[in-house]
Amino acid sequence: MNEKQRKEQSQINQVDPADVKSEQENLQRLKSKTSDDFLKYFEATYEPPNMKKAKKRLRKEVEYHDDFEIEEQFQGLGNGKKFLIRTYGCQMNEHDTEVMSGILTEMGYEATTDQNEADIILLNTCAIRENAENKVFGEIGHLKALKRENPDLIIGVCGCMSQEESVVNRILKKHQYVDLIFGTHNIHRLPQLVYNALMSKEMVVEVWSKEGDIIENLPKRREGRIKAWVNIMYGCDKFCTYCIVPYTRGKERSRRPEDIIQEIRHLAAQGYKEVTLLGQNVNAYGKDLDMDYGLGDLMDEIRKIDIPRVKFTTSHPRDFDDRLIEVLAKGGNLMPYIHLPVQSGSSEVLRVMARRYTRESYLELVRKIKEQIPNAALTTDIIVGFPNETEEQFEETVSLYHEVGFEGAYTFIFSPRDGTPAARIEDNVSEDVKKQRLHRLNEVVNEYSRKAMEKYKGKIVKVLVEGTSKSNDDKLAGYTERGKLVNFEGPKSAIGEIVNVKITETKTWTLDGEMVEETVAEPVEVI
Ligand code: SAH
Ligand code: SF4
Ligand code: F3S
Repeated sequence: MNEKQRKEQSQINQVDPADVKSEQENLQRLKSKTSDDFLKYFEATYEPPNMKKAKKRLRKEVEYHDDFEIEEQFQGLGNGKKFLIRTYGCQMNEHDTEVMSGILTEMGYEATTDQNEADIILLNTCAIRENAENKVFGEIGHLKALKRENPDLIIGVCGCMSQEESVVNRILKKHQYVDLIFGTHNIHRLPQLVYNALMSKEMVVEVWSKEGDIIENLPKRREGRIKAWVNIMYGCDKFCTYCIVPYTRGKERSRRPEDIIQEIRHLAAQGYKEVTLLGQNVNAYGKDLDMDYGLGDLMDEIRKIDIPRVKFTTSHPRDFDDRLIEVLAKGGNLMPYIHLPVQSGSSEVLRVMARRYTRESYLELVRKIKEQIPNAALTTDIIVGFPNETEEQFEETVSLYHEVGFEGAYTFIFSPRDGTPAARIEDNVSEDVKKQRLHRLNEVVNEYSRKAMEKYKGKIVKVLVEGTSKSNDDKLAGYTERGKLVNFEGPKSAIGEIVNVKITETKTWTLDGEMVEETVAEPVEVI
């Protein structure tokens, strides 16, 4: 640093950080200078993603912190300003959005749903399939006009897409009006990053490719007061050959049981009715902790907490052990709903996917679950058109579906993800064939769902009422213990309560009914 730069730097340091307002005015004044002046003293963050690094799994022990705080200089930075976060992808992202909302709120920002009045818009993105990414790029494109109208608007891209090198390069090249890109491991850095974006005329990019430690005390602004997400672990070490998640979310890191239990107790005390334990592969919970303790043990403790409903997602069949089945079979507040992604019914395809189980072992697991938890509703995820999938292999998936009789499924066409092994396999299956297979599978999926719903006709079920129905404001909507969506007539005062509903009509994906007073002999919902 030469003398002149030092002088400029010392002038900047004279700003009293405690006086946020004058700091803000000062920033504004400085920002209106040329970027040259500005960059002399300000080091814009630039740390792009690196997928090779993201793939490495080091043995370093995870550290737990509860020392997060918003530095004084960033407090009040958002006073009088508004933020909007658009969330794509899975529940993990939804929950991350709650954390980011919490941080922004503590910085003084206020939430808005109107993009025209937002001062900061964050896109919390998903990288799981190409069409998920296309949606986000479409949205980034739309925001250009808004930025032109309001140059002070901060546009940020975060979430799983920002962990990909190709995505960051594309934004740097084609969407230079984006102000900020940060990764899934950088969320706790949000105050600093927003500040940098406000100060810098260059795009601020900070994507750590290696996961950080676990910070327990990040603020959260939860969506709603009825259901809550609770992370029990982060990351994934499974490296299924088609999947981007291990690269975007880092290695498996479990939270400590006592921290999870305390969070759930706290939610129960606040009146929440349901918690969903979250992880990319919740059945691997505890493996990285230095104790003989798994998801079954955790659930066995959680079931004693006075909260009506406990669910978990997502399960990996490989790690679904007998202890967990035994605990789930105890019922109570542990909901009889298990989402168990199978991906394919062909052992050969499963081998190339590196799923580490076979058709036979999956079916054996299902048999055990059904035997010990007879009222469990099973749903799944399936990928069709994995590279070189033969007609016979696809048929094996369909036959497995019949054999298990899943009550629902998310079905996808294989989407090659940059940097994953499956994306490099030469593929002999045409897009047309893949689409036909998806269509054929979906017919089966619909039929099983419709049949599962029909069994509810005339039955009385317990519904946790979440709000009004999406399609009809006069009706209420909520879920049964086995995860079925029910639209029904009832008083608005029932929102947030668990009520008895008599099913009057069944559809392919939903149930219709009416609220009833009578209490029924439990269990209400054994079908
Ligand atoms: N951790 C979860 C999956 C999260 S991703 C699990 O292992 O079950 C949700 C679903 O997206 C996966 O189950 C899979 O069916 C699908 N998926 C993941 N990568 C995909 C890809 N490259 N193409 C198509 N579908 C994919
Ligand atoms: Fe992806 Fe497999 Fe991990 Fe699920 S278990 S997140 S499909 S790598
Ligand atoms: Fe998508 Fe990332 Fe979730 S890729 S599915 S948002 S973990």
